[in-house]
Formats: sequence, C-alpha cells, structure tokens
Amino acid sequence: MSQYTIKPNLLDQIEPLVSEIRVFKKIDSTNDEARRAIKSGISGINLIVADAQTAGRGRRGKTWISPAGGLYMSFIFPFQNDLTQPQALSLVAAISVKRSLEEWSVAPIKLKWPNDLLVEGKKLSGILLELERSGGNTHVIFGIGVNYLLTVEQKLKIDREVTDLNEQAENIPSRERVITKICIDLLNNVREFSERGFGSFKPAWNESDHYLGSRVVINDGKSEKSGISLGVNERAELIIESDSGQEFISGGEISVGLREIAGIISRDT
Ligand code: BTN
Repeated sequence: MSQYTIKPNLLDQIEPLVSEIRVFKKIDSTNDEARRAIKSGISGINLIVADAQTAGRGRRGKTWISPAGGLYMSFIFPFQNDLTQPQALSLVAAISVKRSLEEWSVAPIKLKWPNDLLVEGKKLSGILLELERSGGNTHVIFGIGVNYLLTVEQKLKIDREVTDLNEQAENIPSRERVITKICIDLLNNVREFSERGFGSFKPAWNESDHYLGSRVVINDGKSEKSGISLGVNERAELIIESDSGQEFISGGEISVGLREIAGIISRDT
C-alpha cells in the first residue's frame, strides 16, 4: 500500500466535507471495505477509493471488472432515522453522478433505471447501493464505478457495450478531479433528497431516461414484467404500461429494452 496512483493530497478540496478518506492502490472491493469499516464502528461520512479492485461487484451478483487506473469509490453516509425510500436514493445517486460527469462528457448522458449511466446506449458508469445497519444507524454505501480509461481488450472482456470517460471527454480530467466533483455533488444531492424527498429529482430523471416510451423487460431475479416505460413517479418507481394496465415497479432492473429508432429495432441490455 506504499505507492498510490490516486494522489490523496489532490483530494484536499473534499477533505473538510467528510470524516475520512482512504485511498488504496488495490483492494478486493471498496464496498466490501466500506462494510468492514461500518462494522468496526466508523462515524460520519467516509470515502474509500481504489486504483484497482480484485473482487469488484456489480448489481445482481455480477462482477465489476476493475483494472488498475479506473475509478472505484464507495461513499458511506450514516442516516439516523430509518430510510423510507432507499430505492429513490439509488436514482438520486445516478442523477448526481450524471450531473458530475456532464462537466466533461461531450454527448448527453442518459439513465437506465434504476441507476446506470449510458452514452448512446453504452455503459459509462454503474452504482451499487447497499445498506448496512450498525449502532442504531442505517449506513448507506454508494459504490460508484466509472469507466475511466479502458483498453480495447478490457472493453471486450465486459459482457455489454461500454464506453469510458476518455472516449467521451474532449480532455480527460484527472481521476482526483472526477472523485472530487462526484463527492461534492453527491453530498449536495443527498442533502436535498433528505430535506425534500424525490419530488424535485423526478423531472431530472424523466428528462434523461434512455428507455422512456420504449418497450422494456424488467427482471427482479424471480420474475419478468414487460411494458412501455412511462418513466418514474414521486416514489422513484418505474411506471410501465403493460397488457394489464399501469404497473409500478420498485425493485429489479431493466434487463432488455427494445427501442425503435427510424424503423430499426435495436436491442440494448
Ligand atoms: C453495476 O452497474 O452493476 C454496479 C457497479 C458498481 C461498481 C462499483 S466500483 C466501486 C464499488 N465497489 C464495488 O465492488 N462495486 C462498486
């Protein structure tokens, strides 16, 4: 752990905003480290960053391929009260990271419910939100992975189409700048959500929803539902128009989307 490639001293702008920042050259998973930290009794907002992960985790038990030189971070936010809408927080995180990355991305960033960031259908970033209860607090772990600079070979190893910040930005910012921006925006957006709920985020989501108006299939690990996506409501549920009428989905994720573009059906997963 002697040689860092992400320079902790360049994160000085966010140092006053959080209780602790820890930067690892390599770790199993920043989310796993976050869980261990919570169990050991940390307090306040904590940030864990790694240059590489050996066991990076994605949603639904998937692996998050995490070669050195990427952007892997977990924010720990303690909430004193029980969280009433953890699902909504997941969407708030996606909106927040989208706003952060739009500082550099030339093309618009779109959202895939509940919390993927896409550019032209290709994945730029994913978020793994986990809850851990300890000492009477609910800790939310926001695990954020941003594809920063992947080689062609690394892209090919990933089982879906991906893009990276290097491809999307005119001039790629340093990882320290990206981490700083993501952290500041997330703090502000989580605060806004805590004070005002999801209502003010709903339009932001629906304006950027990649699948709005498209036929989607939602998989919650046990069953599948399909219908036309109508965007999200105030509770951050995905509304779909299915054969049996409107349905409100609070768990799962879009496994397949069929989008009709100029007469061509393209399939995104
Ligand atoms: C997904 O889209 O499936 C979510 C990916 C989340 C990846 C990040 S990288 C930092 C943090 N540590 C992990 O092991 N996973 C999250």
